[in-house]
Amino acid sequence: MNASQTTADVSIVGLGRVGLPLALSFADRGLRVIGIDKDPARLQAVREARMPFAETGAQALLERAGASGRLSLSERVPDAARARHIVITLGTPSFSHIEIDMRDIRSALDDLLGVLAVGQSLILRSTVAPGTTEFVAGYVAKHRGFRVGEDMFVAHAPERIAAGRFLEEIDTLPCIVGGVGGRSGDVVAELFSSFAAPIVQTSPVQAELAKIWTNILRYTNFALPNLLMMDCERHSANVFEVIDLINRDYPRGGIAQPGLTAGSCLRKDFAFSEERSAAPGMLLAVSRVNESVPLFLLEGLKRRLGALAGRKVAVLGLAFKADTDDERDSLSHKLIRLLERELADVAVHDPRVPTPTASLQDALDGAAAVVVATNHSEFRDAGTLAAITERACSDCLVIDPWNCWGAAQVFAYSSEIAALLASR
Ligand SMILES: NC(=O)c1ccc[n+]([C@@H]2O[C@H](COP(=O)([O-])OP(=O)(O)OC[C@H]3O[C@@H](n4cnc5c(N)ncnc54)[C@H](O)[C@@H]3O)[C@@H](O)[C@H]2O)c1
Repeated sequence: MNASQTTADVSIVGLGRVGLPLALSFADRGLRVIGIDKDPARLQAVREARMPFAETGAQALLERAGASGRLSLSERVPDAARARHIVITLGTPSFSHIEIDMRDIRSALDDLLGVLAVGQSLILRSTVAPGTTEFVAGYVAKHRGFRVGEDMFVAHAPERIAAGRFLEEIDTLPCIVGGVGGRSGDVVAELFSSFAAPIVQTSPVQAELAKIWTNILRYTNFALPNLLMMDCERHSANVFEVIDLINRDYPRGGIAQPGLTAGSCLRKDFAFSEERSAAPGMLLAVSRVNESVPLFLLEGLKRRLGALAGRKVAVLGLAFKADTDDERDSLSHKLIRLLERELADVAVHDPRVPTPTASLQDALDGAAAVVVATNHSEFRDAGTLAAITERACSDCLVIDPWNCWGAAQVFAYSSEIAALLASR
């Protein structure tokens, strides 16, 4: 077989949070798409036109794709070779935070090796360590004898969207394409010209570095206010006031706000650079700051309330960031584990995640402390604050590193928050 005998335009291998919206978006632009996932439950949900996770606008797209007949599904990775372009959107976790775990990519590559044909392209959409795209090109050249860039094409086209904004950003964020050899970049750029976003061609390693360092920048940007929050507690200073002093009318840069910084991308992508770093440990230190925020909040809670054994603590939010249903690598889970190790009675409420949680009222009833772990928009209104006053213990301690209500206190009793807000 060669590429002219293929029966679809593009295959997407891995129908996760990146792969499924991408598959639906290609189908919506009129391409014939094969969606591949090894998880039968995921495929069943797609077949039944049920989005398996929240992504703005994707449900309507899924229904349209089903009706159009342009999306077919398979559990078998070799079926991906029935399309001209094969896009890999598999997970790329890290081993112990200092080495990329490429097992899913290697396994898909081995499944595809025997069926790849002249004229096809293999595109890494997953986030990968520098050098991975050249490795993939070398692997198919070594085992199949392709001249990559001439008779078979390999490129990295990293996914840069933020969850929840996929359908908007696929048409607006510049699409980086790093192709191997002479023609891979052009071939893959043509595929992504299905979308309205501008395409920027570069080398594979520059595409890899650009993606990883976008996330490193965000991860580090959030570590700084988190470290400042810890410093402020030691100096009995108010982090929000210090941040305002830094940022107010100052033209050179600005510091972000503190919070619980995690999620499956930020938490691991820095490791892909760290594994061969010129400054080993620097990014691990960034990670350790962000990872120690739950402990910092717990210690602050204990300093104010004393022992937590047998006392109820309500945790609001399980998702890793605001307004998502994604709990993967959320620091809320770490916070809950730490609270449980203090023998606290932990009650959790999150209106968005698939894990069943208590209602807001049940979580708050009689709580000695409330921790806002995720700044979902549901929590940022006066109603949640009123519910805390009404249902939790009188003068319950509220821990709000996000400054959800503008009281500008990481740790404050509910009466203090009410007084502060009333005085503004
Ligand atoms: N989630 C995001 O917001 C985001 C944003 C940008 C980049 N990325 C990157 O995109 C990649 C994918 O992330 P994700 O969040 O979509 O992951 P995910 O875990 O949601 O999706 C991966 C999918 O691949 C399937 N799968 C795993 N092994 C398989 C195999 N051998 N054959 C077929 N299917 C297989 C899984 O069942 C799952 O559905 C990662 O490299 C990630 O770092 C993610």
